[in-house]
Amino acid sequence: MRGIQLHLRRTALIVLLLMCVGLFFCTHLLLEISNLKDARVKLEMEVAQLQHTLDTSDISRSRRLYATNEQIRDVYSPYEEDMIILYNRVPKTGSTSFAGIAYDLCKRNKFHVLHVNITRNAHTLSLVDQVRFIQNITEWAGKKPAMYHGHFSYIDFSKFGYYRRPIYINIIRDPLDRMLSYYYFIRYGDDFRPNLKRKKAGDKESFDECVEKGGHDCDPENLWLQIPFFCGQSAGCRNSGSRWALEEAKHNLVNNYFVVGITEELSDFIAVLEATLPRFFRGATDLYNNGHHSHLRKTAVKITPKPETIAKIQESTVWKMENEFYEFAVEQFHFIKNQIFEIVDGSYVPKGRRFTYEKIRPR
Ligand SMILES: *[C@@H]1O[C@H](CO)[C@@H](O)[C@H](O)[C@H]1NC(C)=O
Ligand SMILES: *[C@@H]1O[C@H](CO)[C@@H](O)[C@H](O)[C@H]1NC(C)=O
Repeated sequence: MRGIQLHLRRTALIVLLLMCVGLFFCTHLLLEISNLKDARVKLEMEVAQLQHTLDTSDISRSRRLYATNEQIRDVYSPYEEDMIILYNRVPKTGSTSFAGIAYDLCKRNKFHVLHVNITRNAHTLSLVDQVRFIQNITEWAGKKPAMYHGHFSYIDFSKFGYYRRPIYINIIRDPLDRMLSYYYFIRYGDDFRPNLKRKKAGDKESFDECVEKGGHDCDPENLWLQIPFFCGQSAGCRNSGSRWALEEAKHNLVNNYFVVGITEELSDFIAVLEATLPRFFRGATDLYNNGHHSHLRKTAVKITPKPETIAKIQESTVWKMENEFYEFAVEQFHFIKNQIFEIVDGSYVPKGRRFTYEKIRPR
């Protein structure tokens, strides 16, 4: 009886001992696992830190290259390499001078320039042609980065489902000046291609005479041009005097154009582009001020109209609306320009960077 009790007690002791040992090992194992977890987290943090240091040193290295060696700048970001600028130029606004600058810069700055020639100078494209055009220029990798220019109204890329939209730029001009310039241009040509026969060559009628007898070429209806260019491809944009078209044009100018310059301040427009899109326009200001593009293409003959002629044009609804649009564009351009530059000793100097990052978490 006692022997059995003793034996039982010994067995219980052994079981207890084994349980203790088991418990010890289990606790030890759990501890090891948690240590390993800690170590992994630490390692991950260190890798992240290292990655960050590498990244930032990479950025600063390329930035130094951008800053110190402006001539040899071969490090472009993929974002810049994929850029497309669309310049849907309005006739008689200085567009030939401006396109000339891009042609002169394209080799040095390594980008492509392409003219979009639209059959019979129509300013609108069919929906099918819009799809063709958008697909082509977006997917044409061999011609990127690029600037396309041509006389077509604004095309809204986003409604075709392309996530990357082009950068739209344009230049507009005082509407009456633009009309006068065109009126004399088709009669006398210009200094750009002086020997080319224009469609009204030989017609000696002055703008004053035309307005007096209510001729076709000086009809204020012809002023309806800059609004439809900015309004877009819709039917409503063609309705001259349409308030909706004017509002749509203003909306696009502010929201869908990167910057719109004015003919009267072409060199400032070029300076703004050089400051904002250096990938394309580095060296443009210098080229414009010192190169052969420094003068605008000039219509050979231009007679200043009489005050009564001007007054008559200004009575028309179309002039009033086109002028409202032009003034809207001037205000916006001056705003952009004055925010970028300050005037030091009579010349424009870009203001430095006015933002920084802070409170960057997690560390
Ligand atoms: C556009 O193409 C037409 C037809 O091919 C041609 O006659 C015209 O000269 C071209 N326009 C320009 C500005 O090159
Ligand atoms: C775009 O059009 C041009 C001229 O028609 C053609 O040579 C080029 O291959 C086209 N690119 C694409 C990506 O469709």
